Amino acid sequence: MAVEIGCSRNTVIAAYEQLLAEGYVEARIGSGTVVADTLPNFALDNSQQLSDEDTSAMPRNLSKRGDKLTNLPADSHFEIQEFIQGANDFSVFPYKLWQKLQNKCWREPQSAFMDYARKGGYAPLREVLAEYLRVTRSVRLSPEQILITAGTQQSLDLCARLLADAHDMVWMENPGYWGARRIFEANDLNLRPIEVDKDGISPSPVDLQTTPRLIYVTPSHQYPLDVVMSLTRRRLLLEYAASVGAWILEDDYDSEFRYRGRPIASLQGLDHRNRVIYLGTFSKVLYPGIRVGYLVVPQDLVEPFRTGLADIHRPGQMAVQAALAHFIQLGHFSAHVRNVRARYGQSRALLQYTLQNQLLSSARLSNADAGLHMVIHLPDFCDDVKLATEARLEQIDIRPLSAYYIAPPATRGVVVGYGYMPLNEIVPAATRLADLVNRHIVATHQPVLL
Ligand SMILES: Cc1ncc(COP(=O)(O)O)c(C=O)c1O
Repeated sequence: MAVEIGCSRNTVIAAYEQLLAEGYVEARIGSGTVVADTLPNFALDNSQQLSDEDTSAMPRNLSKRGDKLTNLPADSHFEIQEFIQGANDFSVFPYKLWQKLQNKCWREPQSAFMDYARKGGYAPLREVLAEYLRVTRSVRLSPEQILITAGTQQSLDLCARLLADAHDMVWMENPGYWGARRIFEANDLNLRPIEVDKDGISPSPVDLQTTPRLIYVTPSHQYPLDVVMSLTRRRLLLEYAASVGAWILEDDYDSEFRYRGRPIASLQGLDHRNRVIYLGTFSKVLYPGIRVGYLVVPQDLVEPFRTGLADIHRPGQMAVQAALAHFIQLGHFSAHVRNVRARYGQSRALLQYTLQNQLLSSARLSNADAGLHMVIHLPDFCDDVKLATEARLEQIDIRPLSAYYIAPPATRGVVVGYGYMPLNEIVPAATRLADLVNRHIVATHQPVLL
């Protein structure tokens, strides 16, 4: 056959082997290879095969929930807000050290490393984490109250499943974190969008007549509006949650990044009635792919949450948890936090300075001095979705603020991430961004004709 069709013998052998492996032919000893009597089930003849056009017109056969979830314009690359496409800089991460600690775990292996994670995760990690949260975030806890998860998404999922039933109401900051929204929708909860002002979540008198089961907030740095929840607002929220028996889910995703002033204590630390579940993650401060986060739950929820985590999510990654425990214990984590905080603080200051100097006065910058993103607020006549699309054509990856709203957007703007961008790229990139935004404002502005 190789001679007949003019290819190499190996190609023919490989083709035969493939046909054999897939069940199209049978090798019979003494009589060679023949076409199989019965074809594999998945073999459709040409007349049955569907073109891409046909399949796109077919119902997708998803559940109603699945349809709703996958039709929403979320995007996994929301995780890292790039600002300039492809310019992610993870060089600040201490790779060598991290590798050494992981190797150390495998050099002195324990059978626990090969097992599922039990009892809420690796005990030494829960111990060092408890100490860290007590000191840096004023969280009131003992190590048993911590459950190590595969990140905030999983933590939120567990809370939604264990604390709420289908159609229960959840208050969400509006605009708010799309990842939390997806989890609540995936659990068939009813979202009630609550406005955010300069002091954080701001329920109206009508909102205060409702009885949410869950209240999801990002108090130390609102996502995406870049504001810090005031102490007065924190107290009001705690008071209200206690009065209606709601659970507050406090997502403290980037509290390490506060560049000026003293951080306000966590909501959990201010709470005396055990209404707060505190959620943390290593996605921002280390790297998102590590998939390690944690929950701090009130004492009486420890057992149900351990059972729920084990039975629903079957956690593992004990060796990573052990390496992380060493990383924190040996002081490398604090050193890394200091290092990246200084670095991101510089990025933020440079970006702020450059944009402030170059943007038209009708564009306003958010100013929380925290986190890894900021917002350029735009006049109402702007179309932020169009602007983000125009930006993408110029390799600038910004997010339209309106995409973060549950109800129709109240304000226009773009969310700009700077944490993962090389420092030397900030000024040229900000200059290009300011130019683009200014062009959009000028082009969309319609002067009022008298
Ligand atoms: C508001 C908010 N919470 C939490 C996270 C982190 O989620 P995870 O721990 O699942 O990576 C992010 C990441 O972008 C976020 O923006």
